[in-house]
Formats: sequence, C-alpha cells, structure tokens
Amino acid sequence: MADKVKKIGLLTGGGDCPGLNAVIRAVTRTAILKYGYEVIGYKYGYKGLYNNDIVPLDLNSVSGILHKGGTILYSSNKDNLFNYQVEENGEKICKDVSDVAVENLKKEKVDVLVVIGGDGTLTSARDFARKGVKVVAVPKTIDNDLAATETTFGHYSALDVATDALERLHTTAESHHRVMILEVMGRNAGWIALRSGIAGSADVILLPEIPYDINKIVAKIKDRGESGRPFTIIVVAEGAKPKGGNVVVQKIVSDSPDPIRLGGIGNKLASDLEQLISNHEIRCTVLGHLQRGGDTSTYDRILSTRYGAAAVELIHEGRYGNMVCLNSDKMTFEHLENVIGQIKTVDLDNELVKTARSIGTSFGD
Ligand code: F6P
Repeated sequence: MADKVKKIGLLTGGGDCPGLNAVIRAVTRTAILKYGYEVIGYKYGYKGLYNNDIVPLDLNSVSGILHKGGTILYSSNKDNLFNYQVEENGEKICKDVSDVAVENLKKEKVDVLVVIGGDGTLTSARDFARKGVKVVAVPKTIDNDLAATETTFGHYSALDVATDALERLHTTAESHHRVMILEVMGRNAGWIALRSGIAGSADVILLPEIPYDINKIVAKIKDRGESGRPFTIIVVAEGAKPKGGNVVVQKIVSDSPDPIRLGGIGNKLASDLEQLISNHEIRCTVLGHLQRGGDTSTYDRILSTRYGAAAVELIHEGRYGNMVCLNSDKMTFEHLENVIGQIKTVDLDNELVKTARSIGTSFGD
C-alpha cells in the first residue's frame, strides 16, 4: 500500500487543451484534502523541471479554474530533457540533461511527479520512470489518439468548437448555395473530423484513415444539388489525403520532438474541386487553434476531475509508472511502457463510420 509520500510535483507538457486546469485542480484538491500531501507545480512543462521553476499549489491557487482552458502552469511542446538544447562554449548542442531534473526533484523533496500530457510528454514520463523517478501520468490531447484510454480529456471540448463551426457554416452555405469546407486538427487520427462531422451533420467527412477520391466528392455534391439541396458541407481532417497522394505539411518545427505540423489540405481540396465544379462557389475555413482554446466543456470538466483524482489514488496505492485511463466509463490505469507509441486511429469497421455511412454521409471513398 501507500509509501510515505509527502510532496508531489505537477507539470503540464505538450500542446495545451481545455481540461488541463481541471486536472491540476483535482490533483491538488485530492492530494491536500484527502491525503495531506504538499503540492508544487513546475512551470512551462519539463523546462520548469530543468530550471527548478516552481510554484506552490494550494486550495486558493486552484480556486476558480475548473472551467478555464489553457494551463495555469503554462506548457511547452519543445522541451525533451533527454535531448535538450543547451549552449556550451558558445555553441548550441542537444544533450541528455535528465539528471539535472532528477537532482531538482531531490532538492525540492518531491516524492512523486504527476505528468499531464500527450504522447511526447508521456514518452519523457516513461523515460523518467526508467531512471527510477516515481511518476504518474494523465492523458491529454484534443486528438484522442492514445490507444490506452477510451477518451483523452480535451477531445470533447474541441469537438464542441468544431461542431459549432459546422453549424455556422451550414446557414451561410445554404444562403449562397456554396460548398463549404472545414479543416480540423487531429494529426494522423480522424476522431475530431469523424465525431464533429456526425454531430455537425457534414455531408462529406474526410479522414486520414480513408484516402479520398475527389470524383466521389464531386458526385456527392451533384447528387445533393439534383435532390434539391444545392449546398454541401465537408469536414476534412488535417491529416487527410487523396488516394495515392500525400498529406499536406504546413511547417516543420525543427526543435520540436514531433516536428511535422499538418495543415493545408482544406485549401488544396477547395482548389482541386474548383477545377471540377462550376455551379458552386467553394470556400474553406481552417479552424486551427480555436479548437484548443476557450472554456472546458461539461464533459471534459468531469473527465479531467476524475483523471486528476484517480492520479492521486495511484500515488496513494504506490502504483508508479502508470497512466490513468478511462475504460468502459471506469477509471483504470496502464503502465507507461505499454502506452507510448500506441496511437489510436479510426478503424474502418468503427461503429461511428458505419453509422455515418448508414445515414448517407460520404467518406469520399
Ligand atoms: O496534438 C494537438 C494538436 O493541436 C494537433 O491536433 C495539431 O496538429 C498540433 O497539435 C498543432 O500543434 P502546434 O500547436 O504546435 O501548432
């Protein structure tokens, strides 16, 4: 059972998303109120662990943040302490500085580190666990692409934004008889496009997992026009690609552990469709970081609170090296060794895909 934990450290890493503050609040409140642990936060993710940039967390500092997007601890998606950029003799080099972080944890007498993040942040958490650091992790990402858990927090908040955008596009598309394309995030997983496409009644949903045939999309637009619906709503995941084609890369962030930033497929699709369709104007909206900003949805407030409280239970039970997970609506856990690199994409037999097909939604295939 529980060992003698007195103090826990907390950090948020990777891209932000709604729900981070709700997890910080739940961890802090459970730690203090239920177990009497002291809590500190590291600012700017792993960078704060390296610089020992800490802030004490108490009931007052986490008051009023449940609904707020972003993270009161700030975040960074560039700082991998196992391959960290430092300046030595006037030269910038990358080296393993994880021992500095381990020393800082000892200096602050932090017994357990709680890491909140997606695949990149969790990879470092696993590597710290391998070095003997007591780590507990919480899965975050709007992309919902971690296989170990049914749902990551942040996903449903992003879905609310994307669904709202699709609804708004409907009224303007209908007024002008236009084809409206909405590009959403998700990296190489189509969950945001699939779920928002169903909730926002998109006519065409384009996923990374189902390469599209542009002629099928043209046929769908024509078919709708002939049946008295002369407008079409298309939601396209940033990782979608045409059959035999490639993803569109927006930029390479060279100092990021995951340097490829996808983006641009929506505009490419718009200009490709313009070559094939003359009776409709086509417009593309790229939703971008609006999906990561703003308030946390009701669902994510609850899920994040459950995750945060469950993470502290893992600490109390001494189950280090694990990540809290949601399975069949129950809080469970999985060892970080089994979590990393296990990306969950949309499987073609997925019930949601079948449901969307049943109601006539096209996947462009
Ligand atoms: O993983 C979350 C995510 O928002 C992806 O959906 C998107 O591809 C990426 O991060 C964007 O990263 P950045 O904030 O660095 O542009």
